[in-house]
Amino acid sequence: MRLPVWLAGSVFVALLVGTAPGLHAQATNFPDKPPLLVGAAWYPEQWPESRWDQDLALMQAAHIDVVRVGEFAWSTMEPAEGQYNFAWLDRAIALAAKHHICVVLGTPTAAPPDWLTTKYPQTLRVEADGRRAEHGNRVQFSFTDPLYRKFAHDIAEQMAIHFGHNPDVVGWQLDNEYGEPDFGPSAQQQFHQWLEKKYGTIANLNRRWATAYWSQTYDNFDEIPVRATDENPALLLDWKRFVSDVWKSYSLNQISAIRPHADPRQFITTNTMGWFDGFNEYTVHSVLDIAAWDDYIDSDHYDYLENGARHDLTRGYKMKDFWVMETEPAFVNWRPTNTPLQKGQVRDMAWQAVGHGANTVEYWQWRSAPNGQEEYHGTLLGADGTPVPVYYEIQQVGKEFAAAGPEIAGTSPHSEVALVNDYDSRWAITFQKHSAGFDPVAEMLAFYRPLRTQAQAVDIISIETPLDGYKLVELPALNVISQSMADRLMAYVRQGGHLLLGPRTGMKDEDNALQPERQPGPLADFLGGRVDQYYALDTNVPVSGAFGDGTANIWAEQLQVESPDTKVLMTYGKSNGWLDGQPAAITRKVGQGTITYVGAWFDAATMSRMTAQLLDEAGVKPVLTDVPEGVEVCRRSDGQKSILILINHNATEEHVALPEPMRELIDEPGTVNAVDLPEYGVAVLEAEK
Ligand code: GAL
Repeated sequence: MRLPVWLAGSVFVALLVGTAPGLHAQATNFPDKPPLLVGAAWYPEQWPESRWDQDLALMQAAHIDVVRVGEFAWSTMEPAEGQYNFAWLDRAIALAAKHHICVVLGTPTAAPPDWLTTKYPQTLRVEADGRRAEHGNRVQFSFTDPLYRKFAHDIAEQMAIHFGHNPDVVGWQLDNEYGEPDFGPSAQQQFHQWLEKKYGTIANLNRRWATAYWSQTYDNFDEIPVRATDENPALLLDWKRFVSDVWKSYSLNQISAIRPHADPRQFITTNTMGWFDGFNEYTVHSVLDIAAWDDYIDSDHYDYLENGARHDLTRGYKMKDFWVMETEPAFVNWRPTNTPLQKGQVRDMAWQAVGHGANTVEYWQWRSAPNGQEEYHGTLLGADGTPVPVYYEIQQVGKEFAAAGPEIAGTSPHSEVALVNDYDSRWAITFQKHSAGFDPVAEMLAFYRPLRTQAQAVDIISIETPLDGYKLVELPALNVISQSMADRLMAYVRQGGHLLLGPRTGMKDEDNALQPERQPGPLADFLGGRVDQYYALDTNVPVSGAFGDGTANIWAEQLQVESPDTKVLMTYGKSNGWLDGQPAAITRKVGQGTITYVGAWFDAATMSRMTAQLLDEAGVKPVLTDVPEGVEVCRRSDGQKSILILINHNATEEHVALPEPMRELIDEPGTVNAVDLPEYGVAVLEAEK
């Protein structure tokens, strides 16, 4: 098979130029910049130049150290085809530097200019329903179109030639929030090439996809439809994997333009969207230097555990500290009712980000554009150009980051427990939910919440991550499993690890086909037990046993023990007849390790008791004991230094006793044995050396 030109070129250049080093526990690779940064998204192109200095002075007064600029400014950077204008950006960066503010440059490819898409309409994305996107919003481009790749490469290259050695540019953001795929001719053609490369012959594809079902049998690769829903589950899974590979090559296309012209200290990243499952983040991050995400509260109220999980997820993309590239200055404009964070919660969220491994928190946005789709979004300045109330809270964050940054520099969060996030499995379940309430992210969070509360640190990792350093590894639903994954999991248990498998684990193979054995498939013999049958639930079912009395809902599996040393932990009570009296959770000891299988989605209290037992068995201790509910404990360390970040997410004052005297880093200087945290209060403390 012939590789598309852009793909072959990108891979070649990437091999030639390598990548920038990842960041180690500091915001940038530039020693003259502060280690912990507060920032804002700034759009100088939207304002008269005469206003810039005033804006930057107000930023400096708020202790803002970094601005992200450029990511939607294509029509200003290249007003007509091939005519580049960076002089305004040179001046904006120089003026920012005068105010001690450094810059992350966004490539503007999420918003192509009108001249481009009008002259070359094939660069416009085609929606799943066949409609072509139009100019006027953003993200209207085709991620597979070779001509769009060429324009994206050219603008990124011109920017890099211009700014790649600017000492005030610390990094690059590619595009903005990758997300929308293309279903048009270029995507179809490349999907077919991708499938041909993977399967070799159409006969092989037909066999692995079992296309005799409903006469789906194909004679040629180019007959295969391009669909994201309502299709053969093998096709759907391959479509997602293809989309992931395309976003990776989309990244490489721009990386190959930037890297040869850029100071190796300038990192290259993109800004991601938490649990968004449009593509596999681990695939895309394999070619990025650091991870960064946009932290927005997408429900009506800030749920700190849910938000913390998304930080941990992002940290897991590179297993390193990360950036919060965007977050809300109290509210957004895109929810049905855009309730604000409470006063104090913006600061609470900033410190939570740092507690989970962020070294930069950037607010979106500095000031609302004079017009445009986002006029109601939260900002730091009002339409009159003077601060709105949240400016002062962010100013406090800036002051505190500056005070504590030098001590926090070099430290990172560390965890003895891990949760596995697997895109193939999440996709496979979402394609065939079977029980409407079975949202794989909600299920993941049901495992995460008690783990985070009790262990006070959790890594969210990919199935490829080495497991040796963990005492407890939980796989909430590893639905798609290969023999090699099963082998690694068994080796982990044999070496003394504690493994927890959740419902729906080990049901599918890598083609999204049913495993030839009962669940958990290749782990069933090792577990000494199996799933006899699964049942979708719409009412509570009683459960009881080692984790106390509780209920299960949404999903329940009738388990069977097949080995004398496999023990039943939980049993169903009276239910649908099938489940009555049957095992709901089983476990087996293997040397010093254990493998435990939980076949049901338990209520929160039962999950909490289960977690306590597992942590105890695995020998995992919390950082602090007797912490009031709603007070989050985060520790960052470098092996020598130990920094505690305590965040009171409650609207009431809370008292926390410390196990040893600690030094205050953001409050009145001094050493304390306990802290009283006001509502949404934060303490940042360092253990005395
Ligand atoms: C993000 C996006 C920003 C801005 C923001 C508003 O998803 O990257 O450009 O639109 O949302 O909340």
